[in-house]
Amino acid sequence: MTQPHFWWQTGVIYQIYPRSFLDSNGDGVGDLPGIASKLDYLRWLGVDAIWLSPIYPSPMADFGYDITNYSDVHPLFGTLEDLDALLQQAHQRDLKLILDFVPNHTSDEHPWFQQARQSRTNEKRDWYIWRDPAPDGGPPNNWSSRFGGSAWQFDEQTEQYYLHVYDVKQPDLNWRNQEVRQTMFDVMRFWLDRGVDGFRVDALEVLLKDEQFRDNPVNPLWKPGDPFYTRLLEHYVVDQPGMHDIMQEMRALTESYSQRVLIGELYLPLERLMPYYGEQLDEIHLPFNFQFVTMPTWEASTIRQAVEGYEAALPQEAWPNWVLGNHDRTRIATRVGREQARLTQMLLLTLRGTPTCYYGDELGMQDVPLPRALMHDPVGKNHPEYSRDPVRSPMQWDGSANAGFCPAGVRPWLPVASDYQTFNVAAEQHDPRSFLMLTRALLDVRRSHSTLTLGSYQSVEQESATCFVYQRQYADQRCLVALNFSAHDQVVTLPEQGQGHVLLSTHGDCEGLIPLSEVHLRGNEGLLIEVEASSLPG
Ligand code: NOJ
Repeated sequence: MTQPHFWWQTGVIYQIYPRSFLDSNGDGVGDLPGIASKLDYLRWLGVDAIWLSPIYPSPMADFGYDITNYSDVHPLFGTLEDLDALLQQAHQRDLKLILDFVPNHTSDEHPWFQQARQSRTNEKRDWYIWRDPAPDGGPPNNWSSRFGGSAWQFDEQTEQYYLHVYDVKQPDLNWRNQEVRQTMFDVMRFWLDRGVDGFRVDALEVLLKDEQFRDNPVNPLWKPGDPFYTRLLEHYVVDQPGMHDIMQEMRALTESYSQRVLIGELYLPLERLMPYYGEQLDEIHLPFNFQFVTMPTWEASTIRQAVEGYEAALPQEAWPNWVLGNHDRTRIATRVGREQARLTQMLLLTLRGTPTCYYGDELGMQDVPLPRALMHDPVGKNHPEYSRDPVRSPMQWDGSANAGFCPAGVRPWLPVASDYQTFNVAAEQHDPRSFLMLTRALLDVRRSHSTLTLGSYQSVEQESATCFVYQRQYADQRCLVALNFSAHDQVVTLPEQGQGHVLLSTHGDCEGLIPLSEVHLRGNEGLLIEVEASSLPG
């Protein structure tokens, strides 16, 4: 008998970047009432939970990942009452609401840091990470900021450096300080008490730093042209001893409420990621699996290897998850093109595990390039080629001015895609072959087939190097997914006799019953096939 499953196992998560979803008050920036007005769209689409990137008060140096008050809402987004209303309206529609929790750093404008920087003896001093200058007056060690430059900033008044793994306006909290821990756990309670369904926890892998502050080794493989942030190996900043105790505490706190989830942002290789489930599965419910956003090549064989490697590495009973995009990474339809993005959507929504969908990816939205002068992202200011603004462009709702994101005549905070008249919700809702209708159909099939939510995963060997085929099985129900990652027709052979029922083709047409011995795939086509109960393994 199978165990009952939690909503975060069978459901699909949809990430909203609040600034970019819907502007209800005409200031060019998305807000909570805007999100609330689109809950019916999300229900229609068929997702189960929404995760909001930060909505807290912030000077917006890193667009909300620099927080000045963990227990309130930024006026740009609305009020605490708006958040409560959104939560209530989401729950009424059986949608869960997950907030972003940013424990690693605050804004430098947070009252805690303002106090901490007043004097070396201030009671909040140890809430942050301060070190004396090196003997030459320079930074205490070679650690670099993930946004460029040194990770240390000199504070004139107290003549020490503070650490910021991200922007200079994001000082790192000192998680070795017990008061910091307890205060941040109280923040979690504040939101859980209000009824939020869980957290996506930001930047977890850097929460603790080396106690001796040793220099990071230089990456021997780094060469000019490689990303600036890979020049050093973050040996003494990432995944430090002591992390798992903190994770267990966070989990115990979360478990003291019913049906909540912890999702961890952890950019780590599999062998270091898996321990975050916890030895007793008592840490993070879903440590984000970023393989699909970090893979250097996108081919059937590498995708298959990634899936098999992940499945093999998962601890027993640990629940898998898959991510195709987020607010930090190039959109999937830009990375692989719109044709293959359809195929990839089928992949995301038919693999074993909880999928996270990034807003707009359901439309086939692509990155929106913009000149340096219009960039807002702190990363883009130092390194325009790595700016994350292009992946945060306004959601495309319809063919009207500003794609319906904000009223005509208002300037949206980031430019709207030039092709929005073709790729938008309203237009795609009327086109049965659109990206949106494919996504909706996939979500629908996923919901109605336990095989796709609960079934086991098994790869199916193929001769064709460009096809990736796998089977999902639950009790005596079986589904096959055949994905052709080439522009040419391919034939795949399936280990079944008999026939299968084509539930969906990424090309939008369905053939009904087909023989399983030889399945024909057109260029960039994916098929989702339900095996007829009477078919026997070959
Ligand atoms: C990861 C977030 O996803 C990213 O957007 C942010 O800039 C950093 N953490 C710092 O909070």
